Amino acid sequence: MAGLLEGKKGIIFGALNDMSIAWKVAERAHEEGATFVLTNAPVAMRMGAIQELAKKTGSEIVPADATVNEDLENLFIKSQEILGGKVDFVLHSIGMSPNVRKGKGYTDLNHEWYKKTLDISGMSLHRTLQAAKKLDAINDWGSVVALTYIAAQRIFPDYGDMADAKSVLESIARSFGYHYGKDSKVRINTISQSPVMTTAGQGVGGFDAFLNFSEQMSPLGNAGSLDCANYCLAMFSDLTKYVTMQNLFHDGGFSKTGVTAEVMEKFMSE
Ligand code: NAI
Repeated sequence: MAGLLEGKKGIIFGALNDMSIAWKVAERAHEEGATFVLTNAPVAMRMGAIQELAKKTGSEIVPADATVNEDLENLFIKSQEILGGKVDFVLHSIGMSPNVRKGKGYTDLNHEWYKKTLDISGMSLHRTLQAAKKLDAINDWGSVVALTYIAAQRIFPDYGDMADAKSVLESIARSFGYHYGKDSKVRINTISQSPVMTTAGQGVGGFDAFLNFSEQMSPLGNAGSLDCANYCLAMFSDLTKYVTMQNLFHDGGFSKTGVTAEVMEKFMSE
């Protein structure tokens, strides 16, 4: 497979280091012929790794804090200049909770931090789409994908306030998907991904044990980052033109599994 995204232009948020899901999306999109701008919060630029990715994929970087409307408008203006026109795809791969990071459990949240969690991890999708729509920066049949997790539908206690942010994120994809679809045929979906070891993932308590649990509860096993990237590419391509406003599970079957033989075995009496 080569050339699936030939001629397509995009913006990829969230490549922090080579573990990031967005990093894999950038590598694969480049292999499939896309050109794109990389973006991340100005503070993440200091880590330096994104420059390496930009070099590797022949991309330019435009910093933007996804909670600042002016940054996002500047991002769409600059990206169109750099890419020579409107974009065809956007990857929203952004997540951060100060409460989870600082070990604040769900019944003892710092509510100022809670607002930050909701803004960074949820509302930022609305801010991004609103900036794009205002500037008419996405081509007809363009595709926006945001990454999410099943804690939006079912309780995973250590995921804390991120669960609420993911519910907001998925709802925005549905609501904005209606309006953007009607007005410009832009489609918006969320991909609900298996857990994978990344900087954001590591912030969740007991993540190692959780990865193993999820692996054993998924008939196909956990989906990895590379396969998540491939699914994102499929959603950016013209092969999925009529898919919009959906939350799409990319989880090896986890979301539809009640129990597996491996997990049952742990509860068998001698
Ligand atoms: P990551 O830590 O590599 O990526 C998160 C990104 O969010 C980082 O690049 C970070 O700089 C960026 N970010 C944080 N605050 C920002 C802001 N104010 N403005 C712009 N960017 C900001 O981790 P990962 O796992 O690649 O996360 C990507 C997405 O995938 C997130 O939405 C995450 O919730 C989601 N996801 C991750 C799973 C996992 O197990 N790792 C499972 C399911 C979904």
